Amino acid sequence: MGAVRILENQSLRAYNTFGVEAKAQWFAAFNSVDALREILSQKRPLAFILGGGSNLLLTRDVPGLVAKNEITGIQVESETADSVIVSAGGGAVWHPFVQWCVAKGYGGIENLSLIPGTVGAAPIQNIGAYGVEIKDVFEYLEAMELSTGEIRTFRAEDCRFGYRDSVFKQELKGQYCILKVAFRLSKTQHRLHTDYGAIREMLLEMEVPHPDIANMSEVVIRIRTSKLPDPAQLGNAGSFFKNPEVDATHFASLQETFPNIPHFPTSEGRQKIPAGWLIEQCGWKGKRSGDAGCYEKQALVLVNYGQASGEEILELAKAIIASVEMKFGIALTPEVNLI
Ligand code: EPU
Repeated sequence: MGAVRILENQSLRAYNTFGVEAKAQWFAAFNSVDALREILSQKRPLAFILGGGSNLLLTRDVPGLVAKNEITGIQVESETADSVIVSAGGGAVWHPFVQWCVAKGYGGIENLSLIPGTVGAAPIQNIGAYGVEIKDVFEYLEAMELSTGEIRTFRAEDCRFGYRDSVFKQELKGQYCILKVAFRLSKTQHRLHTDYGAIREMLLEMEVPHPDIANMSEVVIRIRTSKLPDPAQLGNAGSFFKNPEVDATHFASLQETFPNIPHFPTSEGRQKIPAGWLIEQCGWKGKRSGDAGCYEKQALVLVNYGQASGEEILELAKAIIASVEMKFGIALTPEVNLI
């Protein structure tokens, strides 16, 4: 005991990829279950568990304790000739974990290369990109119930994964700390997801007709770096909003007015519409208000040019929501967590 340091009045600027200033009343990092228990035993009211801070907009100082998960470590739990179950600590950084798997020849998460954040945060919002979501390769996770200290195993069905959604964003929000996540990955006969338009184009450009998982990772890295700002250069939290879905009737009326509206059918007979397109049509792409802006290459990404406050970014988001609602009758919802 006594190894954990609790800091008071700690700036969170370095701990959120938007790079906005906000202070935590208390702040502590933990790299083991015991350290987490020790922090919790001090009975300070917990504000939230922090991962990579890459899906977070801090709009004010945070009362209570912010606890940063730094539990790392990768483990092969079991394997057969064709597949492997690999787990990683909740605080492990996501992209290096993907790279480790790709280097070992383990397939399944290569399309999720370069997504910012941590392994433990990945299932909370069922991260996804280029035709793959965490739920497709998820095996189980272990999480601590913060109120009791009990450790519980969650299988896929317990997590209730949806589009950028899980039980940890709904009924169990704020109640668990994800300690470890295990994935079932392929060792042979990898199922590559190459059908996404941008992927096909990049494979052609790179002249790779028969890609392997390392090629896929490379392709995704190239696409992401060309379209999405690097948080180290320009503060952002990836897609700020979710792509909205509309029902068939609403879609038919939209298509009458906007014949070029891009859309993707969902399994429930609805249509998903890229929020980036809606926002661009409303004239926001590349617009800037003070240091808060709508990214010039991807309208779904809001950026901090330097000194924007969380409130300013939130004001911009609200103005975008209002104009998309007015023009299309669609209510955009944020993908990022607003604090
Ligand atoms: N588009 C525009 N203007 C823009 C941006 C997009 O018209 O400024 C339209 C285009 O029609 C384009 C379509 O939107 O074809 C889709 O754009 P993109 O491929 O960039 O994907 P997205 O729907 O904007 C989603 C995820 C991303 C993920 C990509 C690739 C959400 C909220 N976002 O973005 O995830 O990387 O697909 O799969 O679902 C994230 O969640 O933070 C994230 C970056």
